[in-house]
Amino acid sequence: MGPLDILSSPVTWVVTIVSLLYILYKYATSTFDYFSDQGIRGPKPIPIFGNLWGIWKANIPEYDVALVKQYGKVFGYFDGLLPNLWITDADMIKAICVKDFEHFVDRRSFGIQTKVMRKWMMLMKGQEWKDIRSSVTPAFTTGKIKRMSGLIRDCVSNLSDQMSRLTESDGKIDSKLVFSAYTMDVIARCAFGLKIDNLGSKDDQFMKNAAYILNPPANKSPIVLLPFVYPKLLSSLSTYAERLLITKEHRFFFKLLEDVLKDRSQSKEKFHDFIELADEAISDFTKEVDGKTVPMWSREEIDEIIMAQSTIFMLAGFDTTATTLTNTCFQLARNPEIQEKLYESIVTKMEDYDEVCHDMVQDMPYLEMVIQEVLRYYPPLTRVERECTKDYSYDNGRIQIKEGQMVTIPAFALHHMEEYYPDPEKFDPERWTPENKAKRNPYAYLAFGIGPRSCIGMRFALEEMKIAICAVVQKFRFFPVEETPEKLRFENGLLAVLQPVQAVVGIELRQ
Ligand code: HEM
Repeated sequence: MGPLDILSSPVTWVVTIVSLLYILYKYATSTFDYFSDQGIRGPKPIPIFGNLWGIWKANIPEYDVALVKQYGKVFGYFDGLLPNLWITDADMIKAICVKDFEHFVDRRSFGIQTKVMRKWMMLMKGQEWKDIRSSVTPAFTTGKIKRMSGLIRDCVSNLSDQMSRLTESDGKIDSKLVFSAYTMDVIARCAFGLKIDNLGSKDDQFMKNAAYILNPPANKSPIVLLPFVYPKLLSSLSTYAERLLITKEHRFFFKLLEDVLKDRSQSKEKFHDFIELADEAISDFTKEVDGKTVPMWSREEIDEIIMAQSTIFMLAGFDTTATTLTNTCFQLARNPEIQEKLYESIVTKMEDYDEVCHDMVQDMPYLEMVIQEVLRYYPPLTRVERECTKDYSYDNGRIQIKEGQMVTIPAFALHHMEEYYPDPEKFDPERWTPENKAKRNPYAYLAFGIGPRSCIGMRFALEEMKIAICAVVQKFRFFPVEETPEKLRFENGLLAVLQPVQAVVGIELRQ
């Protein structure tokens, strides 16, 4: 038998194909012993996809709660081939997010190198993230937020007018629509320096483009798996990635900001918005060179950082805040006694103020308790993630996490654990009295994340929500109508932020 006979023999072909399939299978399952070798349980992964298959049509809050119920406080999961340790153990959350933060500085990032996007704080890594975070942080102090609160109050006045119109015409509101228009109004004014009439109307490009970027159709299709299964995809596409990532919707916002920054460079006017505050903060940030203190960033870099943070302000701050206000409205409608108690506390506070304002909302314990409970019940970002940046071992080496691996804290599931929140399905602001809070491990609450990488916009979001809630609850009463669901449900799919379905409530003017 000659070499050609061997090559064309069916036996050779069968052996080759079987060997290739075996090698492929071995590769596609190569990491799957990682957790079982450490005695850590978890759902069974499938080749290539790990545990992600079907995730685009799952209901994430329900999916996460079910996983935690089944596998407990620490279990192994696979994003494609990448091991991802899921934790809801409050002590371990503290270790990873705070005590040993230096091992977990980054979030999952996908290696985006495109201009402006590469400076999105949410996705930045290591020292670069630290520099940007430190530069921008001074724009979010209470004093700076107070400077923006005048703009917020203007937006609340529009919100209240819109609610009055709907009270007269329909007697009910789709609260997600109404609060989305409000939070987008706040973002347009604070982060883009723009006053936009008719936000939310049919021809409103600002809202339309934002909605596309926030919830691209791909998030509800298997395409969403690609960057998880092949995380280097975007960086390896290099120049193509730019065309793929920066859609015309992104360009719309970048262009708006470019124009605003150009106008501002020739203006002496004061605007009291985020663009101005971020510009001041970033320009003041310094570094040491040869024993001299010099500015950290050039003018060109400052403009890119502002554009990046203003767009991330929209991505991270629009839907999160709108969803939380929507959920608050739903819970107030469903819990009239809580709504009345809140109303009374607002009326009492208003005795000392002419209008709802920054100083008024600083010390309103019951309002704070209601918001905390809404965010406990429905944390808009259902998962908090960290990428391991330095090999790590926990519990005397019992648990090993290697550089590059992921840790996920399923915040929604954590907030619904009986161990931390007895009777978790009960909406109960009393959980947040100082006495009740003191009894609970503080690391079991992750609505704004925790540690150095927690939400930089928390104070701003709270200001925006408190002013809106005070203004509308003192004027209107919310109540359930036929369309109001018993229990609020959220859309299926791997969505960045919880999307309430059918959050319709009745509304009437208080006498
Ligand atoms: C109710 C409203 C909001 C909620 C519930 C929320 C929640 C969160 C959460 C859970 C994280 C991840 C934290 C972690 O990994 O530990 C985060 C990060 C972040 N949020 Fe918010 N957020 C809200 C509003 C805002 C607003 C208004 C802004 C506007 C500036 C903002 C900007 C950011 C940024 C830039 C990050 C990334 C921080 C970093 O990587 O250093 N968020 N937010």
